[in-house]
Amino acid sequence: MRAVDGVSLSISRGESFGLVGESGCGKSTLGKLLLRMLEPTAGRVSYQGSDLGLLSEGDMKGLRPKLQPIFQDADGSLDPRYTVYRLLAEPLQIQGMERRKIGGMIQDLLGRVNLGTELLERHPHELSGGQRQRIGLVRALAMKPDFIVADEPAASLDLSVQAQVLDLLNSVRERDGAGLLYVSHNLRMVRLMTQRLAIMYLGKFMETGDTESFFTKPMHPYSQMLVSSLLSLDPAKRRARKNMITGEPPDPSDAPGGCRFHPRCPYRKPLCLHEEPGLKDVGNSTKVACHLV
Ligand SMILES: Nc1ncnc2c1ncn2[C@@H]1O[C@H](COP(=O)(O)OP(=O)(O)OP(=O)(O)O)[C@@H](O)[C@H]1O
Ligand code: SF4
Ligand SMILES: [Mg+2]
Repeated sequence: MRAVDGVSLSISRGESFGLVGESGCGKSTLGKLLLRMLEPTAGRVSYQGSDLGLLSEGDMKGLRPKLQPIFQDADGSLDPRYTVYRLLAEPLQIQGMERRKIGGMIQDLLGRVNLGTELLERHPHELSGGQRQRIGLVRALAMKPDFIVADEPAASLDLSVQAQVLDLLNSVRERDGAGLLYVSHNLRMVRLMTQRLAIMYLGKFMETGDTESFFTKPMHPYSQMLVSSLLSLDPAKRRARKNMITGEPPDPSDAPGGCRFHPRCPYRKPLCLHEEPGLKDVGNSTKVACHLV
């Protein structure tokens, strides 16, 4: 099975790129490939011009702090033997921060995600899921990363904390110039948080382009369904319901031939069943993979 197949993207400093698609379409796999947490079977990931696949383990270790994951489930990224204090002090020590400043900085980091200093002596298993996630987030940001993969970074948080976390990510992008891959099912968040995006379906990009143009004029039939589903939540726009996305995505290990979206596409033609459309440039910095566009 190819969880991610034939995708290409670039993310600049200070830019936020959204990755959208149904569960199992390959979003997290792509995020992990970009951070070299997974090795691609083919293809290349480069960071500031150097091919990550060609770096020695030592060089890659030096780069790691600059490439940070923020996952919904922070369990795996926090060493269970460390206290919260140690988890947060470590990245600051690595950066050579003076000892006497570390305590104040940690207090500041916790405040930014609405957590108190009473957590400092606890271990990860003594925190709630949302607390763990926020510790994972501030720890990642304390590394002063150049590039962040934020995979559903706010999904398990209360609304008020969600807003704080997203503000924090935005400020790291704007102030420190970090690039961001923002993975989410939540189209509203993607619209707020990103400048460009890609719509993924069974491992491939169906449409890529500027975020605002996507929401005002989605081009691919799948994109149109996603945007209609969003509008259908608005009672004034119930008419959009008729174009809503229906059916389950097929099993990724048995992707349909031709256009992989054809079993769910209301516009499919005989050609769509046996010929796979490539991503075509349709102007306005948008690319679409559909025979009709
Ligand atoms: N370690 C693995 N071994 C085998 N298959 C895997 C592995 N990790 C992911 N997959 C499969 O690869 C596909 C893509 O998974 P991925 O986690 O990238 O999806 P996703 O888009 O992030 O989904 P979600 O929105 O549910 O997080 C899925 O079919 C998944 O079952
Ligand atoms: S290529 Fe055909 S089946 Fe695929 S999205 Fe376009 S019209 Fe639908
Ligand atoms: Mg995922």
